[in-house]
Amino acid sequence: MSSPKKLFIKTYGCQMNVYDSERMAEELGAQGYVTTDTAESADMILLNTCHIREKAAEKVYSELGRLKPLKELNPDLKIGVAGCVAQAEGEEIMRRQPAVDLVVGPQSYHRLGAMEARTRTGARALDTDFPEEDKFSHLAARPKARRAPAAFLTVQEGCDKFCAFCVVPYTRGAEVSRPAARVLTEARDLVERGVREVTLLGQNVNAYHGDMTLAELIRALGQIDGLERIRYTTSHPNDMGDDLIAAHVEEPKLMPYLHLPVQSGSDRILKRMNRSHTAESYLRLIERIRAARPDIVLSGDFIVGFPEETEADFQATLDLVQEVGYGYAYSFKYSTRPGTPAAERPQVAADVADARLQRLQALITRQQRAVQESMVGRELSVLVEKPGREAGQVIGKSEYLHAVHIVDATAQVGEIAHVRIVKAMTNSLRAEQI
Ligand code: 5AD
Ligand code: SF4
Repeated sequence: MSSPKKLFIKTYGCQMNVYDSERMAEELGAQGYVTTDTAESADMILLNTCHIREKAAEKVYSELGRLKPLKELNPDLKIGVAGCVAQAEGEEIMRRQPAVDLVVGPQSYHRLGAMEARTRTGARALDTDFPEEDKFSHLAARPKARRAPAAFLTVQEGCDKFCAFCVVPYTRGAEVSRPAARVLTEARDLVERGVREVTLLGQNVNAYHGDMTLAELIRALGQIDGLERIRYTTSHPNDMGDDLIAAHVEEPKLMPYLHLPVQSGSDRILKRMNRSHTAESYLRLIERIRAARPDIVLSGDFIVGFPEETEADFQATLDLVQEVGYGYAYSFKYSTRPGTPAAERPQVAADVADARLQRLQALITRQQRAVQESMVGRELSVLVEKPGREAGQVIGKSEYLHAVHIVDATAQVGEIAHVRIVKAMTNSLRAEQI
């Protein structure tokens, strides 16, 4: 028997791409592929790409340029581009890089098997449809193999919000929620394979409406024996309903962590961003969430240098960050995306945006450290995900999503260890098992 064909997938961007890469690997697994860790050993290389910022997209073209010579070493090698760059650029990718054999968008990768077969005949395959059928019900069944303790599970995809800077509504398409029954079945399957924590994914996950609300779905998932922890990301402030806030109080398996991007603290800019909320309404929402669940760790996303952002607008963002006190926050320099409304507006000079980004990041870093420091001395529970580098050490995540290194651990991978935090380090916490 000939040896199985090898697949190398490189994943860029968000957690949904991580989930999609898993599903694409399984889809090609049904065609006889096994995954490999190096591009050099592969018969198929798939780049699962991100289009959210210009740099992310440009990285794909440089990577394709680097991969091209591998075709001379292995004439049977096929190179594919998946994800949001594939959706946005389509045929342009094949024009710009002749070494590319296959281009598949985020809503059509259930057709990957057939597309791969076409490339084996020497043809090039392109599919960036938004098909009627639901890709999840056409994908290969998930394999029975043992899994790591934490897994992603896509429950909602796409976005109808059309923030003026964002490509997601164009690359991922309209908001679609998966039926709750399918999500529950997939979660039960994951638990059978060793998963203890699921993170429900969606571009607007709290807008989930797959015959129940997200809060109801979380409660239903909470009934699954062996599933210990539930998280969800990314949420929009306008879809943060009372029932979801209540779930943070009532559902013990729902972790006290919430990623709730606001993007800017200036109402003038929020309006231009088409965010349909104000800084004030966001702050009042945070108050309600904290009243319900005082220990919740909050995280957010920010864009600096959005078109027409003044120093006063930027100061309003700093003020908002100061007021919230984030456990984590991700800040980005505005990146002009072709086809989005903000691309047509007067742009902020690059050096001004750079300087603002540095100031915001310095503030965020101080806040993150303060939250990490506040964990020292506390007793937390940690889902152990992997062995550490030092003997006797294991690494996992606290309820609040901090990486925790447990020294002299007896807990094994997949177990939840009760620990006392003894030290805050730059990007993690150190703990002793109790
Ligand atoms: N430029 C910079 N950042 C962006 N984001 C989305 N679009 C852009 C853009 N054009 C950021 C937002 C979003 C996160 C995923 O990426 O902050 O929440
Ligand atoms: Fe993009 Fe706004 Fe939709 Fe988030 S809510 S995916 S930032 S358009």
